[in-house]
Amino acid sequence: MITGAAGDLGRAVVRELSRKGVRLACVERKTETLAALLASLPSEADVLGVGGIDLTDVTSCLRAVQKSHDRFGRVDGLVNTVGGFNMGPIDQSGIGRWDALMMMNARTAYAISAAVLPGMQQRRHGRILHIAASPGLKAGSHQSAYAASKAAVIRLTEAIAAENRTHLITANCILPGTIDTPRNREAMPDANTETWVPASSIARLIAFLVSLEASAVTGAAIAAGGF
Ligand SMILES: NC(=O)c1ccc[n+]([C@@H]2O[C@H](COP(=O)([O-])OP(=O)(O)OC[C@H]3O[C@@H](n4cnc5c(N)ncnc54)[C@H](OP(=O)(O)O)[C@@H]3O)[C@@H](O)[C@H]2O)c1
Repeated sequence: MITGAAGDLGRAVVRELSRKGVRLACVERKTETLAALLASLPSEADVLGVGGIDLTDVTSCLRAVQKSHDRFGRVDGLVNTVGGFNMGPIDQSGIGRWDALMMMNARTAYAISAAVLPGMQQRRHGRILHIAASPGLKAGSHQSAYAASKAAVIRLTEAIAAENRTHLITANCILPGTIDTPRNREAMPDANTETWVPASSIARLIAFLVSLEASAVTGAAIAAGGF
């Protein structure tokens, strides 16, 4: 299952995993962007589109998992790319940004994890992969809400790993540097993009971490900052 499947990183993960022949449940909030993603995939890809899913909502997450179980019988792996960025100083007006980023980055990760875990625990197999970010380890100026919300993702990942060792479920998160996306290029037209990390590189790392071969790695926060 890939959440945020039509986002910049999500699309790269969908392409990488479908190239490997993995059966995919692509979960998105907006049905239009999901439809465009599905239309761009090769006809032989075995893909279920699940649109209209809001990951802040527990019932919505359970619906996405149920639809995936109905189609595939199980969810072996979750790649949760839902999340976002915003920045600003710590002042009274920033409380809205704090709440919004906690919802967008932390609550979503908790809700979708809680929804997929029972099926994985029953089958004694699973891979959970969240996307954190390096400010989750140490915040910089104007990053309080973003850093705290990504720190929550890291701590959540560790707790999922600790709680599920005996269920043979791994949980890891990655900390990408600035990803080379159209949106970042538009937002930072003068930046040196040579140090940015291609979404396709991160997608290959994710594909490994959710594979059977990656059973030795759990509870890790893995830097993926490129060069
Ligand atoms: N881009 C970077 O440089 C960078 C760097 C470090 C970490 N990251 C992290 O990497 C992840 C992916 O980033 P990205 O650049 O691919 O972002 P993106 O293009 O904005 O994709 C995020 C996806 O998440 C979806 N989403 C947001 N809130 C949702 C919700 N409540 N329920 C369901 N779907 C929701 C968005 O859907 P809508 O279109 O409906 O909003 C979008 O499809 C994020 O966690 C981000 O924080 C990104």
